[in-house]
Amino acid sequence: MLDRLDQQAPDALLALIKLYNADAREEKIDLGVGVYRTADGDTPVFSAIKGAEARLLEEQESKGYLGPEGDMGFVEALLPHLLGRDLLGTLREEGRIDGMQTPGGTGAVRLAVALAQRAGVETVLMGAPSWPNHAQILADVGVETVAFDHAQPDGRANMEALRAALEGRGPGDALLLHGCCHNPTGVDYTDAEWDEIADLLRTTGVLPILDLAYQGLGEGMAEDAYGVRRVVSAVSEALIAYSCDKNFGLYRDRVGAFYAVGSKSDDLKRIMSNAAALARANWSMPPDHGGAAVRLVLEDDELTGQWREELASMRQRIGAVRERLAGHGQAGSVDLTPLAKQRGMFAMLPVSKEQVQRLREDHAVYMAGSGRINVAGLTMANIDRFVTALADVTS
Ligand code: LMR
Repeated sequence: MLDRLDQQAPDALLALIKLYNADAREEKIDLGVGVYRTADGDTPVFSAIKGAEARLLEEQESKGYLGPEGDMGFVEALLPHLLGRDLLGTLREEGRIDGMQTPGGTGAVRLAVALAQRAGVETVLMGAPSWPNHAQILADVGVETVAFDHAQPDGRANMEALRAALEGRGPGDALLLHGCCHNPTGVDYTDAEWDEIADLLRTTGVLPILDLAYQGLGEGMAEDAYGVRRVVSAVSEALIAYSCDKNFGLYRDRVGAFYAVGSKSDDLKRIMSNAAALARANWSMPPDHGGAAVRLVLEDDELTGQWREELASMRQRIGAVRERLAGHGQAGSVDLTPLAKQRGMFAMLPVSKEQVQRLREDHAVYMAGSGRINVAGLTMANIDRFVTALADVTS
């Protein structure tokens, strides 16, 4: 029976990790999977997380089950950072917001899509290119994906395409949006564009599914949440998928959260009962450790301050790398100047699969076949070598 299964290609992005690790060249540069690196090329555990983990080790009295919703202290503690106190206060007063912990942002996206489908959503509109796993999740859940162009060649978001995609759509359709630091293009909506998107969602009744995986790595925690807050304020229903992988550096601990906004508190109870049932059938309960560490950070002013500082230094370093890259102007046929306008860890370079392969084979530069680079993989010590390599393969 099982011998009927077709061979599946390994996930291209995750396969890069193995290829990179197996490369013995000392000068190798990893611009593949989205992992933040310091100026020394390391991905250290945040000091704030170390502090929280030490406390956890000391104080945790039990590892008994918590239930499908996971650590609700963690889920609640994130909310003011996500929505801001005013909006959150209103939503709480109206009984319209609730959430649960998930295994990473991926678990939250999966839960949001599966729940939307249960509620009758058949089609999900999505800007392309997107994080490759978005399409895989949508296909696996079994909803139809309708793609539209996310970015324009000049590096701005393609609002025309988004407007056209929403035309004639309504309840029964959902729109999957990146809250900030668009993966893979780095092209985010401006605040004015978010205002328009929020209005379009309100008037069409299309369900927003907001994926926020990089909050704090663009312009700041509040600035990066502008779109999510604006949409949630405008519509009666929304689903949010949140990841702490990057902004708390918890990648392998799989820390995420799913939030639902309902039009009234009765609805919300039913929505969350369905989310709990889906979680139970999928993973039963999320892993606890990372979520508990985030909760301890957010419950303690000193650790919160430390975390904010660490996040700010990451954001500044990413900004500095973007500036430095853009400062090079042209690398062979690649115009690097738009990188200064974009935000977050990623940028798409107009390179072919063959050029990506040459970068890897001839220059030990690892990046996704799509042309995406993880800007945070570059350091001041290796940027110039990367630009030279890029110029070599594209000239
Ligand atoms: C990425 O896009 O590199 C990250 O989101 C990691 C992942 O799971 O793909």
